Amino acid sequence: MPRSKISLIGGGQIGGNLALLATQKELGDVVIFDIPQSEGMVKGKALDIMQLRPHDGYDSTITGTSNWDDVKDSDVFIITAGIPRKPGMNREDLLEINLGIMKDVAKNIKQQAPNAFVIVISNPLDAMVNAFYKISGFSKNKVVGMAGALDSARFRTFIAMETGCSVQDVTCMVLGGHGDTMVPVTRYATVGGVPVEELIPADRLEEILERTRFAGGEIVKLFGNGSAFYAPAQSAIEMAESYLRDKKRVIPCASLCEGEFGIDGYFIGVPSVIGAGGVERILEFKLKDDEKAALNNTLEAVKKTVKETGL
Ligand code: NAI
Ligand code: 2OP
Repeated sequence: MPRSKISLIGGGQIGGNLALLATQKELGDVVIFDIPQSEGMVKGKALDIMQLRPHDGYDSTITGTSNWDDVKDSDVFIITAGIPRKPGMNREDLLEINLGIMKDVAKNIKQQAPNAFVIVISNPLDAMVNAFYKISGFSKNKVVGMAGALDSARFRTFIAMETGCSVQDVTCMVLGGHGDTMVPVTRYATVGGVPVEELIPADRLEEILERTRFAGGEIVKLFGNGSAFYAPAQSAIEMAESYLRDKKRVIPCASLCEGEFGIDGYFIGVPSVIGAGGVERILEFKLKDDEKAALNNTLEAVKKTVKETGL
């Protein structure tokens, strides 16, 4: 069987780490695509990762390009093309520039690999994944946005830091849009099966929720230029791996809801089963009144950004 082909559209901070992680997980051959002005940069990253392979004996090949023909027949695309958030900029500020880029990217992916599974990372995420879906005409199960995996990983991290327990044993999910209105669900957050509400006092837990909602901005401020890239890359690789290996992992992702959680026609963070069919199912569960209200609030924020794209 030939190796899978994974194309990374955008070879910047996240793109470079995606290439490294995809290689180390041996998910397949990797193509890093960027604009002609950055062709040298992505060719250099590809060559650097090629030279890392002998240490552990990874056999995938990694190439850099600015030629769309090179991504032909890819199985998976991960899109980070765009500009990252700068200090003082919110995600929505990025909309105009990144929308123009997404239109170009969607048109080209459709032409080169109409059956691929596409993971969108570019911000503002909820609007960008919708834009890709609308412009490409891909089926809903083949298009998904990465945000919930990252936001949940941040929530898990903060709970592990607070309780002093292994992050491996912390389970939780963050639903909704990838913005300050996101909804960390405390009711189902557990440490080794023990509800966090039993382990962390309510006022401290509230501070952790707040830190989770603003975790992306916290890193933007620390960097001073650019946004998080290690954890975002790992989050998307988890999704790509679940598709390529048909693992059927349940990952909070921006999936197209058509009635689930009472939401119709919007990509928003919901627990999604990712397998060989792409987003195979959304796992719906009954929300309590305050959770419903929080989800409605985040949905309104998503609707507002999507409306600004005119799509
Ligand atoms: P970066 O600036 O390091 O990389 C972006 C790359 O896209 C650059 O190399 C740029 O040349 C390239 N690019 C621009 N126009 C392109 C085009 N038309 N075709 C192909 N490539 C193009 O940015 P970074 O840090 O990798 O972030 C990428 C995106 O991911 C940003 O929009 C950022 O806000 C977003 N992000 C989203 C997260 C999420 O949870 N969804 C988390 C973190 C970042
Ligand atoms: C993040 O959450 C800025 O969306 C980016 O790190």
